[in-house]
Order: sequence, then C-alpha cells, then structure tokens
Amino acid sequence: MALSSAQARMTLLDWLRIDRGATGTREGCAEGDCGACTVVLRRVKRGVVVNEPMNACILLAGQAHGAEVLTVEDIGDVGGQSAALHPVQEAMVRHHGSQCGFCTPGIVMSLYALYQEAARPVSRADVCDQLAGNLCRCTGYRPIIDAALEACAVPPVEQAVASADSLGAITDEQDVFCGDEEAFFAAPRTEEALATLLARYPDALILGGATDAGLWVTKGLMAPRRVIWLGRVRDLDRIERNATELAIGATATVADAARELATLAPDVGEIVRRFGSAQVRASATVGGNIANGSPIGDLAPCLIALGAMIELAQGAALRTLALEDFFIAYKKQDRRPGEYVRRVLIPLPGNTLDFRAYKISKRMDEDISAVLGAFAIELDGRCIVSARIAFGGMAGTPLRARQTEQQMPGIELDDRNSWQIALDTLVSEFAPLSDHRASAAYRCLVARNLLEKALIELAGVPLAQTRIRAFVGATHAAK
Ligand SMILES: Cc1cc2nc3c(=O)[nH]c(=O)nc-3n(C[C@H](O)[C@H](O)[C@H](O)COP(=O)(O)OP(=O)(O)OC[C@H]3O[C@@H](n4cnc5c(N)ncnc54)[C@H](O)[C@@H]3O)c2cc1C
Ligand code: FES
Ligand code: FES
Repeated sequence: MALSSAQARMTLLDWLRIDRGATGTREGCAEGDCGACTVVLRRVKRGVVVNEPMNACILLAGQAHGAEVLTVEDIGDVGGQSAALHPVQEAMVRHHGSQCGFCTPGIVMSLYALYQEAARPVSRADVCDQLAGNLCRCTGYRPIIDAALEACAVPPVEQAVASADSLGAITDEQDVFCGDEEAFFAAPRTEEALATLLARYPDALILGGATDAGLWVTKGLMAPRRVIWLGRVRDLDRIERNATELAIGATATVADAARELATLAPDVGEIVRRFGSAQVRASATVGGNIANGSPIGDLAPCLIALGAMIELAQGAALRTLALEDFFIAYKKQDRRPGEYVRRVLIPLPGNTLDFRAYKISKRMDEDISAVLGAFAIELDGRCIVSARIAFGGMAGTPLRARQTEQQMPGIELDDRNSWQIALDTLVSEFAPLSDHRASAAYRCLVARNLLEKALIELAGVPLAQTRIRAFVGATHAAK
C-alpha cells in the first residue's frame, strides 16, 4: 500500500484509526507510556522475520515502510477458521484478563509479540518485562500474566500473516522520497543518499525511532514538513565487536543492542532492561538517545564512564570525539548542520575494571531517570587506581564528575575513612536543578550515596544489601 506524503508524516495511530478505520487500536496517553496503541511490525531484519511491538501513537506512518503492520484486528482466525481467537486472546478470555477493555488490544498485541518471539520456556519475569509498557487500570495484572504464561507455554502456531518471501519482496533497495521540496518523508537506503539529502535539506528533521520526536508531534503539536528517516540506511544499524572495541551503529535499536551492551557489564544490561518499555526499546535507537542531548538519557552516562567515543559523518567526512565532548550545554551538541551521528565506539572493559551504574527514578520500570550514576573503577587489588564517573540528571548535559574522579586514586576498599574526601567532593561538585522529578538537594545527596553504594558493593561490606532484584547474583558478586 502506498502512502501520500501527508500520510507518511502523520502518526501510524492516526493513519490506522482515521484513514483505515482500524479503531481496535486505542489512543490513551499519546506519548508512548500506556501501550493502548501497541501494534506489531513484522519485517525482515538481517534475513530473519521479526515481530516488534511498537507504540503507534508516536511512530510516523512512513516508518512502517517495508513492514507488515499487525493490529488486534489481524491476529485471530488461526488456521483459517473464521472468528477464531488467537491463543493469546483465548487465554485472556479464560483468565478474565479484561474488564473495561480499553487496554486490552494493546496488551494482546504486546503478548502477541512475546508469543511469536520469546524463547521457551517463558518466565514470569519475561512477561512482566514485556508488559512494563502496558497500563491496565481495572483488571489488575495477575490474570493478564497468567494468561500470558499459559499462551506462551507452547510453541507459536503458524499465523495467517505475510510470508517471509513476501515480506522480503517489500524490503526493497530503493531510496524512498515521498512528497516534494516543501514537504516530504524520505527514507534513504544508503549513506551516500542520506548525505545528499542532508546537504540539500540541512533543516530536515532527522528521525531515528521517533520515541522523542514523536512526542513533539503529539504533545508539541509540531507538524514536521521535511523528514529524513534513518531506519532504512543500509548497515547504519550494524553492531560489531573486535578484540578491543564494541561499535554500535546509530540506528541499532536499544532492543537490538541490548545483548551486546549487557556484555560490557551486568549493570549496563540492567539499565537497558529498565529503558522505557519493550515498545520503546524496539523503536528507540542508540544514536537517537545520544543525539537528542538529553541530560537524563540513560545510555550517555554509562558510555561516558566506559570511555566511549562518538563518530559523526557529514558526507564522506568523518570525525570522532570523546562522547562527553559532544554535549556542550543544555540541548546544545557539537553537531554541525547536515552532520549525523554514525556510530558509538566503546572500549571493552579490561579485567581490572569494575563498572557499576544505578538508575534512580520514581518507578522501577518505564520511567525516565531523576539521576543516573555510572562508575568505572580501575583496581589494583583492594586499592583504586583511577575512576571515570559520569552522571545524568545532575546538570544540563550528561557530565563527568572530574573533581571527584581526582579524589579516587589511592582509596583503600577496606578503609572507609579513605572514601570520605571523594564522597564529600561529590556532594558539592554539581549544582543541579530542582524539577518535578527531584529537588537539587535530593540529587546531590543521592549522587553521593550512589558513589558510596558502588564502594560498598566493590568492597563487599558484610551484610550490606544494596539491590532489590536478585539479578546481580554471581556475576556481580563483590570483588
Ligand atoms: C515512554 C517513553 C519512555 C522512555 N524511557 C526512556 C528511558 O528509560 N531512558 C532513556 O534514556 N530514554 C527514554 N526515553 C526517551 C527516548 O526513548 C530515547 O531518548 C531514545 O533513545 C531516542 O531515540 P530515537 O531513535 O527514538 O530518537 P528520535 O526521537 O528519532 O530522535 C531524537 C532526536 O535525535 C535526533 N537524531 C536521532 N538519530 C540521530 C542521528 N543518528 N544523528 C543525528 N541526529 C539524530 C533527532 O533529530 C531528534 O532531534 C523514553 C521515551 C518514551 C516515549
Ligand atoms: S497511546 Fe499511550 S502509548 Fe500510545
Ligand atoms: S481492562 Fe480496563 S484498563 Fe485494562
């Protein structure tokens, strides 16, 4: 199906509900939080068909190019028996997983993605992670989780959906340009075509996953006229690792990069697990999380502490800079007109490096950080040799705690008195803002306490319980 330029730039949810009359998909918050609008995009990625749950409210319709869009209207009728429910829907009925029903289509579609994609057996934790972005106000989650566990207890049944071949056939190699000079949705296939577009339209909105930019449309009432979506640029989502470095392409989604990021350190894995929701992670890109310059983005502090570099491209010209130098001031990044974030280059941590990161937010899941502290500490036995410490939420940009870093060498893990100067320095190093997430005083205190927590964990202080989830286990046992 071909979209007009205006359709490609409207949200997928509006296109579904208004243009297609597919009103099973609901609009709740219109900002990616409630999951009522969840649909599944099926497409071929790296030669394999994937089913990705997405918040249709903040996705532009053009971003569905090359995909089959599945809504709650599309998933019943397994095996061609008309009016048959999908196993997920049947289980929801059996377990009384719906009352008013407003959230139900979104929940069903999130569970459909889990049903199709999850490795068996599916655990309760898997289901809870999948549902973190679906709010239900009346049923309560127990029956919904029970329904999910029952439906996902067996391997997925073949669905009456597009075959891998037909999906492959719409994954073409052409540049997409829909519209005219004044207003268009473009989806270049190559970096060369991207460079040409950016040189010609340096003011165009560069779109990654639209999990930030989509809200400018739905909440900021912005009507983007020139849009360049990066999602089809060949190999810009490539993730590569060599003996010393992990390189993540800008358009790799947070979900696709999660496994590799988690190998850097268990805490990076936990930060990524708590990044938005399954729907947000499936769409949000690593490049977008950095390029947006948010002071409360989750990846930047972790990557800065790990010593990451960022690669920017403008046509064939590449430049690389330390990630912390990319952030100049609040919402001001070192990015020239027509330049784009191309890759993030992360050095692999050595055996003597200990990495800890903690996200402080009002809710455990599906919430933006008030403060995020990341600590990369180089050890010689029980003594600290050096440290890189970075925070989000403490200033207008993600920032290193350079004064505190200077107080870290020489700290003895077994002598708590030796920790004090660094802890005191951290309390006064930043002058954060007070806002609805946290007061300035709270932020300063929590930053200091996070450093103390890192040192307590590192030292293995007896009986100190510092985590509420059991994930740390053996992999993060005190050294
Ligand atoms: C419900 C919800 C929950 C969220 N939870 C979290 C969370 O837990 N942690 C967190 O850190 N963030 C969170 N976010 C914010 C958002 O998901 C991330 O910042 C995300 O990584 C942005 O990536 P994107 O690809 O969607 O960016 P987009 O929205 O597409 O773009 C964001 C900005 O970056 C620019 N841009 C994108 N890619 C490039 C590029 N390659 N080069 C140059 N410029 C580029 C765009 O022009 C735009 O200005 C959440 C958002 C929502 C809606
Ligand atoms: S309507 Fe709430 S996430 Fe889309
Ligand atoms: S059934 Fe009413 S909101 Fe979930």
